[in-house]
Amino acid sequence: MIEMKGLTKVYTNGKNKNEVLKSIDLTIEEGEFVAIMGTSGSGKSTLLSIIGGMDNVTEGTYMFEDKPVHTYSQKKLDQFRKDNIGFVFQNFALMNYVNVYDNIAMPLWNRKTPKHKIKELVNENAKLLGIEHVLKQMPKQLSGGEQQRCAIARVLAMDSKLILADEPTGALDQKNTENIMDILKKVHESGKTIVMVTHDEQVAGICSRIIRIQDGKVLE
Ligand SMILES: Nc1ncnc2c1ncn2[C@@H]1O[C@H](COP(=O)(O)OP(=O)(O)O)[C@@H](O)[C@H]1O
Ligand SMILES: [Mg+2]
Repeated sequence: MIEMKGLTKVYTNGKNKNEVLKSIDLTIEEGEFVAIMGTSGSGKSTLLSIIGGMDNVTEGTYMFEDKPVHTYSQKKLDQFRKDNIGFVFQNFALMNYVNVYDNIAMPLWNRKTPKHKIKELVNENAKLLGIEHVLKQMPKQLSGGEQQRCAIARVLAMDSKLILADEPTGALDQKNTENIMDILKKVHESGKTIVMVTHDEQVAGICSRIIRIQDGKVLE
């Protein structure tokens, strides 16, 4: 699904150049559940952003299903992201001014999915994640664990090819962390490809493979 060769990312700020990813070679197959681990500042989030088309490549190649994402213009990257990627963030990234139902439904509106189909998808995935009883509530009224389940329901309703998660349990207590781990395990078992950044060895333990990065390089 993903093949990177010599992938380099440099952030430039005036005369300062910060080479964050240094010639990364990486292959991820469809159906894998991969953890990306490494110390703070090692480039984990940058790598995830590039995989998800949120950031461009400075040098090297990034192929997604044999398509050259590294050559894409901003407009094409945006389309690539919409078509293929679902994101789960540490801070849940829910919209606070609309209820849980609308939070899950919003990406489907943008895709012009028919209304009855949206209702079906929202209800089905809310049920799957055990949040069907809070659909009319606002995100702020939910616990952190419930908010994260709402964010995961939103991604599942979109049925993206690839799910990316950046520290999805980083803001959760132990009980909610275990709950989210169970959910991600089930999502993976249902056939989804997941790439997750975490610094928690226990969380990484549910993945089928761990990629460790240090100082912008993949450790073997
Ligand atoms: N948008 C950006 N502009 C400039 N520098 C950035 C940007 N994003 C990340 N960096 C820098 O890249 C390095 C790696 O950051 P990051 O990928 O967030 O690391 P991690 O997620 O492993 O903690 C850091 O030095 C950070 O300051
Ligand atoms: Mg990070």
